[in-house]
Parts: sequence; structure tokens; C-alpha cells
Amino acid sequence: MVEFNQRVIEEFRRNGGRVGGMFEGAPLVLLTTQGARSGAPRTNPAVYFRDGARLLVFASNAGAPHHPAWYHNLLAYPQVTVEIGEDGRLRTYATQATPLEGAERDRHYREQAERDPAFAEYQRKTTRVIPVVALHPLALGDGSARVEAVSAQLRRHHAELRAELARLREALAAGVVPDAPQRALAEHCLTFCDHLDLHHIRENGAFTAFEDHSPALRPAIARLRAEHHVVAEKLAELRSVLTGGADPGRIGAALDRITDGLEEHFAYEEASLFPAA
Ligand SMILES: [Fe+2]
Ligand SMILES: [Fe+2]
Repeated sequence: MVEFNQRVIEEFRRNGGRVGGMFEGAPLVLLTTQGARSGAPRTNPAVYFRDGARLLVFASNAGAPHHPAWYHNLLAYPQVTVEIGEDGRLRTYATQATPLEGAERDRHYREQAERDPAFAEYQRKTTRVIPVVALHPLALGDGSARVEAVSAQLRRHHAELRAELARLREALAAGVVPDAPQRALAEHCLTFCDHLDLHHIRENGAFTAFEDHSPALRPAIARLRAEHHVVAEKLAELRSVLTGGADPGRIGAALDRITDGLEEHFAYEEASLFPAA
């Protein structure tokens, strides 16, 4: 299933949000959530229905007896990054998830089952009530309050990542993680990679709201997106070093390649998105 999902995700991204095979013609989005237990970014395809500005997604899990992991993830962390095909191009944006309740949920599920009979079948197969989740796009609007809130959150995340990186560097210098076996170094490092990765994935979504709000920011955001892309490639390199063993020297060198320029990236991001903050 994991491998199947991965193939759908890759095809979706390669083809601007279109996939063939069993999902041919189905309205699909990719949802990236934060793992409820792992904390790592998790991406899953899901069928959606556009309801005004929001999207509705259905945690059917094809009628299986348990909710899909992405549903548990968004209950724990409601920030969901959506990738959707628009005119053959991929649009990534930040949303806030709210599960629908009661009559509103029932009506939207019933309408979905009318549009796509597979959903009627999914509900017949399981005794659980299949959740319907509304995804509300982040909009910066006219007021500065929302921009302030996003700014504060971004600065807080940068501070957390800096602190996490400092702890990781200390552990690497010592060759061990305090109170933990040597193997924990690799895990410690992977956790930092996951957090940095998730931070950038969420920012890629939030950038779309900034571009819509202030078109003058487009050149700065293009640079930031390109920097995220470079970091993502280096994160993949580091992950492959980690699977080959946990030698602190090699981990440290791969980590240096990621963090070289990271502080400048954080600073440029804060200064260009929030010049007055
Ligand atoms: Fe960034
Ligand atoms: Fe950032």
C-alpha cells in the first residue's frame, strides 16, 4: 500500500496533479500531515470535493474498519498542506482541517456517495462513521493580525529548529546522545531532518498565500522555494548516509552540507516576508 501510494504521489507531481490507472479522472489531492506519533511529514492521496473556498475530503480508507492514518494525524495537528492540479500545474497551499459534525457531515457524505457510488459502498462495508473533513485555505486577508500570527509562528519554528540543531551538534561532537545508546545519534539526526522537512513543506504552502496577498513578494518567494528544493535534496542525501550506519563524522559532514546557508535562509525569509515585523 505504501509503495502504491508512493507511485501515485510521484505520478501526480510529475503530471501536474493528474494520474491514470484506477484513479483516472478522479478528483485527487495530496495531503501532507504531521505524523501523530512520529512527528514526520506524511503524504497521502485523497479524493476531494470543492465546496466554495474549502475542500472536503473523506476518510473512507476504502471502507476498512479503521480510519486512515492521515485522519489521526490531522486531529493531532490540523495544519495540512494540500497539493492540487490547476490547469495542468501543481498548486501547493496551506490549510487548516476541521472535521464536520452531525447533520452537516451526514449531508456532505450523502452527496459524495451520490456523486461517486464507491463512497456508498465504503460506508456499507464498515460500521464506523466515515469522517468528512473541511480544509480551509490560509488567507492573509486585509488585516495585519493574520500576518502577525504567521510571522510569530515562523519565528518560533526557526528558534526551535536552531535549538534542535545546536543539541544535535553537541551530541555529534560528543559522539553520543546523552543517556542514550550510540544508535540514537542516527535517530536524533533523522528527527531533526523530519522537522526541517516538515517546516519547509508547510512554508511552501504558506508562500502561496503570501504570493496571493502581495504579488511583489514573488521574486523573493521564488528564491526561498529554490532554497527549500536544495535543502530537500541534501536531506535525502543525509537520510541515505544514516541508513548506512551512524558514524558521527560522516553524519556531521552530511549535516554541514544541509546547514551551510540555513541561517541565511531563515534570516532572508524573516526579512522578506515580514519586513516590518
Ligand atoms: Fe524556509
Ligand atoms: Fe522557515
